[in-house]
Amino acid sequence: MSSKKLNAISLFCSSGIGDLGLKANNISTVVACELLPERMKLFLNNHPEAKGFCGDIWELKDDIVSYYQNTYKENPFLLIATPPCQGMSSNGMGTILNNLKRGVRPIFDPRNKLIVPAVEIAKILQPEWIIFENVPSMINTVIEDTYGVINIIDYVNRELGDIYVGRPIVIDVANYGVPQHRNRLITILTKNDQGKEHFKANGSLMPAATHSEHPTMLTERWLTVRDVISNLPPLSSRKGENIDPNNPLHKVPILDDAKLFWVTNTPEGQTAMNNQCVNPYCMYQGNALHGSKYDAEGVNRSNTDTPLYCRKCGALLPRPYAVDKKTGEKRIMKGFVSAYKRMSWDKPASTLTQNFQYACSDNKLHPTQDRVLSLYEGLIIQTIALYPYSFVVDGRQVTDSVIRDTIGESIPPLLIDKIVSNILQIIK
Ligand SMILES: C[S@@+](CC[C@H](N)C(=O)[O-])C[C@H]1O[C@@H](n2cnc3c(N)ncnc32)[C@H](O)[C@@H]1O
Repeated sequence: MSSKKLNAISLFCSSGIGDLGLKANNISTVVACELLPERMKLFLNNHPEAKGFCGDIWELKDDIVSYYQNTYKENPFLLIATPPCQGMSSNGMGTILNNLKRGVRPIFDPRNKLIVPAVEIAKILQPEWIIFENVPSMINTVIEDTYGVINIIDYVNRELGDIYVGRPIVIDVANYGVPQHRNRLITILTKNDQGKEHFKANGSLMPAATHSEHPTMLTERWLTVRDVISNLPPLSSRKGENIDPNNPLHKVPILDDAKLFWVTNTPEGQTAMNNQCVNPYCMYQGNALHGSKYDAEGVNRSNTDTPLYCRKCGALLPRPYAVDKKTGEKRIMKGFVSAYKRMSWDKPASTLTQNFQYACSDNKLHPTQDRVLSLYEGLIIQTIALYPYSFVVDGRQVTDSVIRDTIGESIPPLLIDKIVSNILQIIK
């Protein structure tokens, strides 16, 4: 820990979760920018020392720069920018491709360009250190600027490469003690002399991994779902059983009877799309499994011919289905083998997104209980629960959807904690 308070600027700060990792290292976020007012309120509630700029960064970038220059003599110690990833997320790549083909989405998604105002602010204020965080597909993302079309990584190099050293690296946060697989592209840049020396000697400014699948001399074993949430009171998605009376955040949405039929029959680590016969007189286990294939246009499509009725006895399989409005016929639900899938107790959780409480989303079911993860479990798995943080604004807890979005969009604070603690070691 440093004794002197260092200043940080946090762009796309959301509700200030990543900033908890700065605070833990005595780095104070003094300027923050976020588009959505309810997130900015939560941010300021938890980081009252900051000046919040709420709105579109394109419109606020000049104000941010002049506020910082008029208020502080020294350059900021750190600038952290975590722009939204929807435009480049590999999660929705099939949809993006489809939409592009239908001409719905512009080829250059404007959200991908949000790195530009962040780089412009960095160029003027020249922080000692810069951290960019995004999804790995950012590596392949192109933007259009005044000079033409350019890959984002090349753009950052072109704009900042004269002053800063550093490079992007794809990491899995599970390797840093977060009980979750979450691949992210982290770019750490520095203009600090010791930082430059460190980069020259090591080729990276990222700290070494602290965890791995199997423990080694230098790393501990990955933290698993069992390690972090198996001690919590059980819940289910049935009415009356979905909330822990002693913990208002340990709660899950209710599922209807059809979804419960699919979920209750899904084994740990498996998808409901592959469930087998549950007719006690048959119990045939050889019904064809679900899958997907690439069509002629290169779009991965889920199979539509996966059986919904047992090949032996004809009973309805507990597999997700949709009902045809005209004929009343049931057909296998559109979706991949990651839909309605249970996590495994003895692995890190799957990536938490804003959809982490939707059973149909990828790998979102509890390993054995009939439900998704609770908000409280989300806070634990995203490592937010390790740090002091309050969801109460003006005496009232914010809505569940704000909490869910805050968790799903955040950067695990433990990762930021480890990155900046390493930076402080480098410059010690
Ligand atoms: C990935 S989240 C950031 C997560 C945050 N660092 C944390 O740890 O909680 C990206 C944020 O950028 C915000 N955002 C999107 N477009 C923006 C814009 N034009 N100007 C400012 N903020 C924007 C979103 O509302 C969202 O909260």
